[in-house]
Amino acid sequence: MSKKPNSMILGTGRAVPKRVLTNFDLEKMVDTTDEWIKERTGIERRYIADEKDTTSALCADAGRAALQAAQLPAEKVDAIILGTVTGDVTFPATACYVQEMLGAENAAAFDIAAACTGFLYGLMMADSLIASGKAQHVLVIGGEILTRITDWTDRATCVLFGDAAGAAVVGPSDGKRGIIDTFIKSDGRLTHLLCMPGGGTKVPPDVALAEKMMFLRMEGREVFKYAVTAMGDAAEHILAKNNLTGDDVDLLIPHQANMRIINATAKRVGLPLEKVYINVQDYGNTSAASIPIAMNEALEKGRLKSGDCCLMVAFGGGFTWGSALVQF
Ligand code: COA
Repeated sequence: MSKKPNSMILGTGRAVPKRVLTNFDLEKMVDTTDEWIKERTGIERRYIADEKDTTSALCADAGRAALQAAQLPAEKVDAIILGTVTGDVTFPATACYVQEMLGAENAAAFDIAAACTGFLYGLMMADSLIASGKAQHVLVIGGEILTRITDWTDRATCVLFGDAAGAAVVGPSDGKRGIIDTFIKSDGRLTHLLCMPGGGTKVPPDVALAEKMMFLRMEGREVFKYAVTAMGDAAEHILAKNNLTGDDVDLLIPHQANMRIINATAKRVGLPLEKVYINVQDYGNTSAASIPIAMNEALEKGRLKSGDCCLMVAFGGGFTWGSALVQF
């Protein structure tokens, strides 16, 4: 790897709610089948928050696990960056609640609303803060309770999403391992294809509730097309920029939204599925939590080992997309 990294991942963690909702459970709720969901998405089950679960608590649990893995006391965290579009409240930032829960009293805490690309946006910010000398240790979290903004009567969306949080502690590189490069991008002309139209300042709450605008809306077929192109582009772009090819990648961690999008991304960079981390069957689409959870599992299962080159790629509402190259 030619470029010397400034920062590296020191520890990761994940957290999920207790309840699991299977495709068979969904068969009893909407006009769908396990067969359709598996064939069109690859999803078999997903974790679902109960009334007591909060995004902040899930994120704090994932963050705590990451700090423990990094053996870093919470007071040493200079910034908490939380990717979420389902925060506890509109403001203050959910990252501030997480800060309080962790006792990370010396940190600055803020949210990033980049939907499913939220974790990679956060990773880029963390790397930049460390490279510029503005921070030493940054806790990057992706966490969502998407099922709270799910329309459980819409079979085209309610079968897709799940709740979870994943986290990574980013600190100074040891000179060999670390974040080699990051790439982020967005296209604000396509906001309408994947969004929650109400809940902000544009539509008053009474109208938003009546018009079902407090639920996630998605033009699935359109989103699918853009996701395939953008994730392939983001993967190719970062490899080319660093004079690498798919052959140099030991593990691809794509955003876990749909098995068909994962297959297309792997094909675009010429990677066999053995070199792709896949857990969409167990979690569904957990938006910003998807990549850090996959990374945490991959490390735990030995799918990511010391010296491995990992390519991460994501796509989400905005549209936003991005990639990261990390040497473990
Ligand atoms: N169960 C059974 N049938 C369903 C269904 C469900 N849960 N959801 C939709 N259908 C039906 C549709 O009504 C349609 O029926 P029709 O042909 O009679 O009109 C048919 O299945 C095909 O629908 P379509 O929307 O074309 O399916 P698709 O193959 O595009 O798959 C998605 C739908 C949502 C799985 C797919 O578009 C997708 O994955 N999109 C991207 C989603 C995503 O990843 N979003 C997040 C990005 S971060």
